[in-house]
Amino acid sequence: MCGIVGYLGKRKAYPVLINGLKRLEYRGYDSAGVAMINDQGQLNVYKTKGKVSDLEAYASDKDLTGTVGIAHTRWATHGEPNSVNAHPHFSASGNLAIIHNGIIENYAVLKKQLMEKGVEFKSNTDTEVLIQLIEYIQTSKHTDLLTAVRMALHTVIGAYAIAVLDRNNPDQIIAARKSSPLVVGIGEDEFFLGSDASPIIEYTKKVIYLDDKDIAIIRRGEDVKIVDFYNEELKHDVTEVALDLAQIEKGGYPHFMLKEINEQPDCLMDCMSGRVNVDVNNVVLSAVIDHRQRLVDARRFIIVACGTSWHAGLIGKQLIEDICHVPCEVEYASEFRYRNPVINSTDVVIAISQSGETADTLAAVELAKQKGAFIYGICNAIGSSIPRATHTGSYIHVGPEIGVASTKAFTGQVTVLTMLALALGKERGTIDQQKYVNLLHELHDIPEKMKTLLQQCTDNIHEIAKIFTYARNFLYLGRGYNYPVALEGALKLKEISYIHAEGYPAAEMKHGPIALIDEEMPVVVVATKNVLYEKVLSNIQEIKARHARVIALVNEGDETIKRMADAVIELPQTQECLEPLLATIPLQLMAYFIAVCKGKDVDQPRNLAKSVTVE
Ligand code: G6P
Repeated sequence: MCGIVGYLGKRKAYPVLINGLKRLEYRGYDSAGVAMINDQGQLNVYKTKGKVSDLEAYASDKDLTGTVGIAHTRWATHGEPNSVNAHPHFSASGNLAIIHNGIIENYAVLKKQLMEKGVEFKSNTDTEVLIQLIEYIQTSKHTDLLTAVRMALHTVIGAYAIAVLDRNNPDQIIAARKSSPLVVGIGEDEFFLGSDASPIIEYTKKVIYLDDKDIAIIRRGEDVKIVDFYNEELKHDVTEVALDLAQIEKGGYPHFMLKEINEQPDCLMDCMSGRVNVDVNNVVLSAVIDHRQRLVDARRFIIVACGTSWHAGLIGKQLIEDICHVPCEVEYASEFRYRNPVINSTDVVIAISQSGETADTLAAVELAKQKGAFIYGICNAIGSSIPRATHTGSYIHVGPEIGVASTKAFTGQVTVLTMLALALGKERGTIDQQKYVNLLHELHDIPEKMKTLLQQCTDNIHEIAKIFTYARNFLYLGRGYNYPVALEGALKLKEISYIHAEGYPAAEMKHGPIALIDEEMPVVVVATKNVLYEKVLSNIQEIKARHARVIALVNEGDETIKRMADAVIELPQTQECLEPLLATIPLQLMAYFIAVCKGKDVDQPRNLAKSVTVE
């Protein structure tokens, strides 16, 4: 939920830390801070409420010298977002500073114990408890910092990625992780730390992804050393990151979200590259080849995910049941992990996560693994925790997604789920050859259709957005494959425009939401020409009879709905199960333009974070 950065080397640390925080701001942006040991050996901490730009303004007249430092951008969990609760936090003596991403769950007990021993606290955070505990161990047991960190981490319960700076040891940073991501970058005589590789790649492509319960000791003039909590040295491979700077910058668009919406045709081509082969009429996923028997023998699939990824999961369920003829359940990871689910060794659990770090999804994976299921990950962030915890999986390969509201990751996830259903359906013998070939060709053509759709609908949607900006509530309806599209459209709108919006299966409208419908409540209806078209048509009539305005997503040339709806967005024709890949695009754009019209911060909406590494 928070972003952490560290630097130790030959450059001035401050610009590296600030640039790094800007790259990680998607993880949280309610306060930010930096700690550096200056050229005179003093430990300076500057922190403020607000965004990284506020920190820059605040620090502009301060002493910014020094070649070692740590920095943090926060998404508040304990203690309100203000400059006192912002990280870094000091120990009582002021010798140690810490940054932390995660939650120390037993902080209240530890705080009470430390207060009884006379330790005074300045903030309400769990993080300050950890640094005070480290210092208390260091002084009371006369240990070095590494030993104190190890002992403290034995005591705390929770999730963390931390970095600790010590005024008395200015050539060292100690970092550790458990259940929150942390990456060490290795340059020429310099080291970097980041919650992901994005703050690091402009300096070096060589990184080590730390595992749970790793402690990294970074010292000037030495190789990085990694030990476990018992001080046993661990060997880690240095990985080459295949990410370049252009991928994580805005590239001329006013917002990352608009860039990412428009990237989708190219992203889906990348996602399908080498997997969907139209020349030989084949869909290949290496995970399905490597684990063919296990997947063919599966008696049930269970998809676990959160947020937008959960919506992709709802589409995956229909694909798997339609094409592979095997039962598939979809669960919120947060519910699944706490309800003692019945899992058999013949179950396959599919974990979907853009970031690969969502705490609830990761916990659901661990639980399902303990219970003997086979785990398949569908993730975007390469090398993140979920892909490392699963037995196999397929990356969606859509590149870094920076806008907090997920767009291209959703269509990437649906594309992988479609390929998975096709590859598996073929192995299971549940899809006939003609249908398989038709679907794979249609899937292959989706990026082209998406490109045309983006060109044709963007201006129209901008105009529609201007008209509906002042609505206070929205209802989104869809059926079958388009029901999750309605949910996702509503989620996008509420996330970035703060307009209340609900998604419903269209037929359920009669069982409640219809009571809300009047001229003040616009209704977005996904009404493509599929088997349920006539039924959705009746829904539109019912809505119009109650004087609400209808924004309809229809297939090109649908004159019937054009006559009934107040605004119409035309979608290219495709197979029913692929419609979500197209229908989602206008809804992403509509949410985007409404939020822009309302002057909202599209890329960093209030109270949200891109990567939810806490429960
Ligand atoms: C947060 C993000 C959502 C995302 C969800 C799940 O709530 O704001 O956009 O869908 O987490 O994240 P994941 O990385 O697991 O897909």
